[in-house]
Amino acid sequence: MRTSLFVCGGIAAYKACEVLRGLQKSGCDVVVAMTDDATRFVGPTTFAALTHHEVYTSLYDCETPIPHISLADDSDLAVVVPATANVMAKMASGIADDLVSSSLLAMHCPVLVAPAMNGHMWANPATQANVATLRARGIRFVQPDEGHLACGYDGAGKLASVDDIVSAALALLDVARQTDSKGGVLCGRKVVVTAGPTHEAIDPVRYIANASTGKMGYAIARVAASLGAQVTLVSGPTSLAAPAGVERVDVVSAAQMLEATTAAFADADAAICAAAVADYTPAHPADYKLKKSHVHLDSIELVETADILASLSALKGSRVVVGFAAETNDLLANAKRKLECKGCDMIVANDVSRADSTFGSDTDRVAFVTHEGVEQMETLPLDDVASELLGRVSALIEGASAHAAR
Ligand code: CTP
Repeated sequence: MRTSLFVCGGIAAYKACEVLRGLQKSGCDVVVAMTDDATRFVGPTTFAALTHHEVYTSLYDCETPIPHISLADDSDLAVVVPATANVMAKMASGIADDLVSSSLLAMHCPVLVAPAMNGHMWANPATQANVATLRARGIRFVQPDEGHLACGYDGAGKLASVDDIVSAALALLDVARQTDSKGGVLCGRKVVVTAGPTHEAIDPVRYIANASTGKMGYAIARVAASLGAQVTLVSGPTSLAAPAGVERVDVVSAAQMLEATTAAFADADAAICAAAVADYTPAHPADYKLKKSHVHLDSIELVETADILASLSALKGSRVVVGFAAETNDLLANAKRKLECKGCDMIVANDVSRADSTFGSDTDRVAFVTHEGVEQMETLPLDDVASELLGRVSALIEGASAHAAR
């Protein structure tokens, strides 16, 4: 499979040679494109000798007439090493003013970005906002490490290890290969995903909510769609954009989420309940704004909401239902208890008191808890957690279909 390696202008550009060798050792055919600045750090001749291909450095004066479109059409994976703050800003804004940025804008295969820069440039809100925008569009990242930087500072911004970049690239190529041969491991499957918080109205302007941002559920929906699934995302109120190719049904309350999810599950193969559904809702929401002088807002009568995960599990038959357990203590004991009492096939357990797994984080450290046992994962970016989860969901669907066919 063809990988295009985009080398940008940073001191870590020399590491791109090692990434290239690592990819080649695993059988990848690699083509290199470089920014003007990158050529000041490593010469195109080095990459041409290593790849036996023309190295693209300009939109003009090359053997291929329309190089950025050829590169995009011929690539199964694009890897950007090192990704500078500048190239990420261009990618986030859709700027196409040179060969590298034009090619990245034209890419229609998975894109993996390995940033490297000064720690202040990495921490700058502009860079972090660009990273968040790109992640939300499905671009994958290999997080930079902390360490001594070439600029003399210590901090985050050091290019991730060559091994980590190569492994992440190979994992994406593996998914691309499966998608190529089978049309995606979830091709022909319908998956329902719940995401975000619910808002339970006290009156027209006040509600009970929680800290969920919806990022995990949206990542699951996005990755499921990229694996070929027909995805319905039932979303509580969030500020996230609907992932491409996903049908989003917006709801506000737990009762609305139950109704929309039950309807979508009717012809689905699997449901993944990642939403942080309110457990209680005001028993008597007012249809006018309550006045603090007239009503005691310090004692609101609450009633329990319906448990969506448990009710889908009761309906599921041989289909697959997965829930989440967000805990601050006794993580695995609580997850195992939820697996039994909700009647689902898997619980994804995460400790939300950890900084790498808390609400709003771009990473999560989860354990997959099934009737067969517990698999503890490392801390991973949300898209990678979603990939790991969906691989297991796909296996459960296949297992359930094979069992039903017997
Ligand atoms: N869940 C649901 N409907 C509810 C409450 C929870 O579908 N009314 C689902 C969540 O989407 C999640 C799982 O149940 O997949 C566990 O949610 P969590 O809030 O961790 O647990 P609870 O069941 O609310 O139990 P507790 O509050 O005791 O932790």
